[in-house]
Amino acid sequence: MAEQKINNIDVSEYPHINRGLDGIVAFSTTKSSIDGKTGELIFSGYHIETLAENATFEELCFLLWNDRLPNKKELDELNQKLRSKRNLPEPVLNYIKTTNKKAEPMSVLRTSVSMLADFQDSEANDTENAIAITAKIPTIIAAFDRARKGKEIVAPLKIGSTAYNFLYMLNGEKPGQAAERTMDLCLVIHAEHGMNASTFTCRTICATESDMFSAVTGAIGALKGPLHGGANTAVMNTLLTLKEQDEVADPIAFTKEKLENKEKIMGFGHRVYKVFDPRAVHLRKMSKELSEETGHEYLYKWSEAMVKTMKDEKNIDPNVDFFSATVYYSMGIQPDLYTCIFAMSRVAGWTAHFFEQKANNRLIRPRALYVAEKNKDWVPVEER
Ligand code: ACO
Repeated sequence: MAEQKINNIDVSEYPHINRGLDGIVAFSTTKSSIDGKTGELIFSGYHIETLAENATFEELCFLLWNDRLPNKKELDELNQKLRSKRNLPEPVLNYIKTTNKKAEPMSVLRTSVSMLADFQDSEANDTENAIAITAKIPTIIAAFDRARKGKEIVAPLKIGSTAYNFLYMLNGEKPGQAAERTMDLCLVIHAEHGMNASTFTCRTICATESDMFSAVTGAIGALKGPLHGGANTAVMNTLLTLKEQDEVADPIAFTKEKLENKEKIMGFGHRVYKVFDPRAVHLRKMSKELSEETGHEYLYKWSEAMVKTMKDEKNIDPNVDFFSATVYYSMGIQPDLYTCIFAMSRVAGWTAHFFEQKANNRLIRPRALYVAEKNKDWVPVEER
């Protein structure tokens, strides 16, 4: 074998290092299938297009948790359970009210989910935990947004869908059917996506036989990063930077300049998809319609100009985060909440993977190749 050196150490004897675990298959799963070459995405047997047209977020939770769709009675029961668990324990609510108003919403969400563990019934099983976490995340997000704006916190309703109730708690008024459907569709689209970084984190924590609250807390931490879920907030910040430039805003020149400077354009590229992300197809349509309805068509036009420039210059397509940003913006939602909304949906996938990992568990423990010196002599501190 030819000599290959890292840090002057011959590593040709060792297995190849897969940076970023690219292409490594670590688990089998029944939760989702992604074909990066054709852009096919399936959740537990159903194509994303079928789900986007027909499913509610609650149906999708049931599907991901049970690998089958619920019948009417099962769906009613799940809805009932989710509605009954929306309230937050008083200490968690107090934390949300009193924490730094300038804190990042994703940090507040992460801490709040972690706190929930302390107030959960110790007898609760994993299904009850999954329902409780899924039900409470929207309440946490809406409560913090209102608290930081000095507005009164709106208690969750005991009726309505997750999407309806979230918008109600966020805005303090009941949403219309169109807004509820848009939010529900966003929740459906974001609910699951194979071995992405946050789901891998969730499974890694689960595999140590830790609890679901810890696993979801860790997953939220992973989702927060701009290379993962945090990209949707970053996309909106990019578009808002262009907006500030007013009449001279030029999304094509902006994109080209960033590429020349070897900067990443947020909302583009994907580890698995080498074609248009199928989730972005739905969001693109919603983005166009909503931007036009709300007088933000310039944002949609700039987005399309960036899509074309990225395709021409780098042959890179947008991912799920690109058009979701303008969808949420058109709904009047503040950009730093976008990643929280992602978490509000992805919790369905995280918890589904938690069940799957636990049912067939093995500790997740890869290796790292040591590439530094060995046999160094100890030097006393005074002599260093
Ligand atoms: N802008 C510009 N160039 C890009 C982008 C981008 N958004 N994405 C990939 N590239 C280029 C890289 O510069 C690199 O080019 P090079 O070979 O000339 O150096 C090549 O494409 C491969 O990129 P990697 O970063 O090595 O690809 P990887 O699979 O590791 O990364 C990732 C995937 C992190 C999503 C990347 O595309 C990226 O950083 N995108 C921007 C952030 C983003 O939108 N993240 C959300 C992803 S979807 C989700 O997690 C929900």
